[in-house]
Amino acid sequence: MHYFEYQGEDLYCEEVPLARVAEKVGTPCYVYSHRTLVRHFRVFDNAFADLPHLICYSVKANSNLAILRLFFQMGGGADILSGGELFRVLKAGGNPGKVVCSGVGKTEQEIMFALRTGILMFNVESSQELELIDRIAGQMGKRASISLRVNPDVDPKTHPYISTGLKTNKFGIDIRDSLDEYRRARRLANIDVIGVDCHIGSQITEIGPFMETLSRLSALVEQLRSEGFDIRFLDMGGGLGITYLDETPPQPQEYARAIIDRVSSLGLTMIFEPGRVIVGNSAILLTKVLFTKKGVSKRFVVVDAGMNDLVRPSLYDSYHHIQPVRRVSRHKDIVDVVGPVCESGDFLARDRQLPEVRPGELLAVMSAGAYGFSMSSNYNSRPRPAEVMIRGEEIHIIRPREEYEDLVRGEHIPDFLVAEDPEY
Ligand code: LLP
Repeated sequence: MHYFEYQGEDLYCEEVPLARVAEKVGTPCYVYSHRTLVRHFRVFDNAFADLPHLICYSVKANSNLAILRLFFQMGGGADILSGGELFRVLKAGGNPGKVVCSGVGKTEQEIMFALRTGILMFNVESSQELELIDRIAGQMGKRASISLRVNPDVDPKTHPYISTGLKTNKFGIDIRDSLDEYRRARRLANIDVIGVDCHIGSQITEIGPFMETLSRLSALVEQLRSEGFDIRFLDMGGGLGITYLDETPPQPQEYARAIIDRVSSLGLTMIFEPGRVIVGNSAILLTKVLFTKKGVSKRFVVVDAGMNDLVRPSLYDSYHHIQPVRRVSRHKDIVDVVGPVCESGDFLARDRQLPEVRPGELLAVMSAGAYGFSMSSNYNSRPRPAEVMIRGEEIHIIRPREEYEDLVRGEHIPDFLVAEDPEY
């Protein structure tokens, strides 16, 4: 469900024709629908209304300050992975008491920053990390609240790069070792054990893996409680999938109902770390056709957005629907939609059927709100695109297009190189 729809022959975001956005801001450009963001957050949050819960939006999916701010205003917290993400959360006015910190490689500086800030808890991913957090908390005269991120060894049945809950993945502490690790944690002087955490993967389109995980984790919670642990939180991570093409993931209500049924008797506060399901379908990447060309065996549509702007097709071979911003009745071609980047892997779609397009026309790459801008880069020294939030009839630039000066910010030519002029 989203608010990108044709009115007549023109594709709109809410009440604004996308062609107008291109005119005003240029291309490529990420366009977010405020109404979609609000709706998705509410639907997810309301689905758990019957249960004490906290939505810790996963900042890595999209970390623009305006988007964070919007979710914080709706009562959300944050799941962070780095000091940089914590910095963003604070900048956007997030409540540190609603922040959970995951990640296999937390540094000393990041742990100190999080402890200083007073986050809700660390989701600890190894024994060494646990010891480090204990030591740093001791040095700072603080106590650190933690969950262990338990790796339940459940197959989330998703792309191998984004599955995290298998025993072959680097994430979390194997469920078979988790009890021992909890007992060790309890003996540490500066650690308060308050929860159990997991995250099994992303773009999960079946309910089964979540349920399997939940039954393993609720058994662990009961075992821990029987040993006197005061477990108050159960964090299910994120991972609920969305429709890019024809996937039929469980709706948040269905996901919630299944979870509520199983955990309500435990009297826990549930934590969720959704990313994609909230922001994925809230945005498009607006791009302009530069050229069309016919190779020996393929037709190419060369557009002004590349893999540096949206890497998902190149990295995961993932599907993003592509629609013309002005609907035309022309014959259809099978084309590769490619960007200007100097890599054969630079494509947004391959062997895609599209109505013939011409230079200067606009295309909308759909479902680009999650892991779109947040994974973008400056490869090929391409300034990153603008980000725009549409609210009704309003167009708000929430990140201007980068300029050339942004590309070299902080770079420095050392004196010994300045001294001599280049040879021409
Ligand atoms: N919690 C943790 C600990 C995570 O690692 C992630 C995502 C999430 C929550 C949010 O998961 P979501 O609800 O968005 O599925 N770049 C990939 C996805 C990587 C996911 C990384 N972790 C992609 O573009 O598909």
